[in-house]
Amino acid sequence: MIIRSWLFVPGDSERKLEKGRSNQADALILDMEDSVSDDRQDVAREMVCAYLQKRSDRSKQQLWVRINPLDHPFSLADLTAVMPGAPDGIVLPKVYSAEDVNTLDKYLSVLEVREGIEPGSTKILCVATETAASLLTFHTYLDNVSDRLVAMTWGGEDLAAALGASDNRHPVTGEYDDPFLMAKTLCLATARAIETQPVGVVYTNFRDLEGLEAECLRDRRSGFIGKIAIHPAQSDVINKAFTPSDEEIDHAKKVVDIFEKNPGLGTIGLDGMMLDMPHLKQARNLLDLVDQIRGRG
Ligand code: COA
Ligand code: MG
Repeated sequence: MIIRSWLFVPGDSERKLEKGRSNQADALILDMEDSVSDDRQDVAREMVCAYLQKRSDRSKQQLWVRINPLDHPFSLADLTAVMPGAPDGIVLPKVYSAEDVNTLDKYLSVLEVREGIEPGSTKILCVATETAASLLTFHTYLDNVSDRLVAMTWGGEDLAAALGASDNRHPVTGEYDDPFLMAKTLCLATARAIETQPVGVVYTNFRDLEGLEAECLRDRRSGFIGKIAIHPAQSDVINKAFTPSDEEIDHAKKVVDIFEKNPGLGTIGLDGMMLDMPHLKQARNLLDLVDQIRGRG
């Protein structure tokens, strides 16, 4: 299933969990990591599990959980605490390589048996660029990674700390600096190479919806399929930006149509523009994406 918007909700906030329920986000990420203070961890574990159990119908909105990183002492307790609620997936932060994803896969296999959940049904989204090492290990995903991994995103905030950077954006243009653009590109390429969903990074200035829209459109042009939100007002903007417009759909249909009507031709002209195989592939991808979004019902 295509998820366009993933809204982070602090796992220890009753009010925000309630607000998340009526939000348009395709998925919520119930957070047990950075937005929860250590002394609220137990509260968050209980609240998140109870919330998951109450909301077993996920047809309109999936429920994912971000646990602490695997090298943090909280991670296993987070995981065992939430699995009775059968989350749709786990968001794994601060990974070093695909090995972390494969380790989580094994933990999930055991916990699914314990909870009577269908084996392999709990998916994984990894935050692929929050450690310095992670920028050098993308190739490990190409060799052998768990089928549970269905989406990858990147992170600019923890990466800045890991790299010793004082900031991650250019002071004048506000654009991400080079190391962060590299992280973004490596995440996109890897996600596409292993046929998982590349997900755009959070836009932290949550009052600036125009800036968010511009960044969503930029992400989408590059190949990303959705984006992470931190505020309820961001979900609608993200959903709209990642849904192809009627004009785009019409154009894609025209492209597919003209090639179908002219079998055997590898290149053709449409409205004064040359089309060849990559354009046909893009058009088919777009129509396939639309079908998947509409299939959400
Ligand atoms: N999920 C659900 N509800 C949220 C929310 C979220 N992520 N962020 C804000 N809300 C709710 C607020 O509780 C408030 O509801 P209310 O009117 O019933 O009180 C309403 O939306 C408006 O919120 P607003 O006042 O605009 O924002 P804020 O100052 O209360 O909160 C943040 C700002 C950044 C603290 C908040 O958006 C947040 O907690 N975001 C998620 C942070 C997170 O999970 N980070 C980890 C990943 S990077
Ligand atoms: Mg973080």
